[in-house]
Amino acid sequence: MTLQAIKYSSGRLEILDQLLLPHQSTYIPVSGVEDGWKAIHSMQVRGAPAIAIVGSLSLAVELLTATFDDKSILRQEVEGKLNYLCSARPTAVNMKIAAEELTLETNRLCSDDSVPNAEDMKKRLVAKIEEMLEKDISDNKAIGDYGAKAMLSSAGGSPSSKLRVLTHCNTGSLATAGYGTALGVIRSLFALGKLEHAYCTETRPYNQGARLTAYELVHEKIPSTMVCDSAVSALMKSKTVSGVVVGADRIAANGDTANKIGTYQIAVLAKYHGVPFYVAAPLTSIDLDTANGDRIVIEERPAVEMTHVGGKQVAASGINCWNPAFDVTPADLITAIITEHGAFSPAELAAKIANLTEASV
Ligand code: MRU
Repeated sequence: MTLQAIKYSSGRLEILDQLLLPHQSTYIPVSGVEDGWKAIHSMQVRGAPAIAIVGSLSLAVELLTATFDDKSILRQEVEGKLNYLCSARPTAVNMKIAAEELTLETNRLCSDDSVPNAEDMKKRLVAKIEEMLEKDISDNKAIGDYGAKAMLSSAGGSPSSKLRVLTHCNTGSLATAGYGTALGVIRSLFALGKLEHAYCTETRPYNQGARLTAYELVHEKIPSTMVCDSAVSALMKSKTVSGVVVGADRIAANGDTANKIGTYQIAVLAKYHGVPFYVAAPLTSIDLDTANGDRIVIEERPAVEMTHVGGKQVAASGINCWNPAFDVTPADLITAIITEHGAFSPAELAAKIANLTEASV
């Protein structure tokens, strides 16, 4: 059975409550944009692609239960709700990219005379949103294939050699519509018989590695070991790590990449130990409007996520805490960015994406 973070059938959306994992698998209904915003903000759903998909589907569910007097009222409603969804969490760009795509489509449908009324426009918008769910899974499988190929070729070795791969945070089925990005690459290597071992970090303070990635690895029966975040240098020194692969919340035009806090230090360690460091992400995580990583807004989360574990206080009362949820890995520490269109070096990323966008217009 494959893990499914998002269950959707026309007009009905449920998400696996990731705050309860790994102890409980409970699906909760999302009946509109307000529910969608809360689920994203509280991290019941998290992971950049999953945030965009749940946000957009929450809009689809709400639209299906509403009626609109005319197309321009529908357009205004959609625009307002998309802006609201983008405010739920600031760092991941995927919801913003989805909102831009849906706004373009809304404007196009609004001025298209062959779309007779608001009802028809609504149905077409919902169909567009539903396509995103399917596309995310096929994009992730392509990322998995390109990533496996890139990691195998950078590791060299004999045709029979297998890789030992480290990942950080959770980028699997739980963070996407299915299959995953960085964890999808590990999944693809495993399916090819080319994975010797996967390592995942705990990913303090929110423990996405311990609670979610470890859960997915065990579920998939992938040979794997969890390490403390602070054990990565020791791991690279004392065991062979063939490569690191992580996801992304926002990739700036120059390739600087925001991802879960702790990613940057792993990239520094990888450079020191000569281990290739890959970022695996769909085009919807790339933000060409942001020139470099200094301009990425980093979400800061409450101290309680550091001071408490599973509701139990572990830090001394009264200590000050700084809890950035993400950090930025400079492009020059990144071997390649693996997308659904292939693996690109950070330096060639912007030109490649511009070409792809031109070709699709
Ligand atoms: O705070 P989270 O759990 O939403 O952070 C998630 C990450 O940093 C992931 O690595 C990233 O979103 C990529 S998910 C495919």
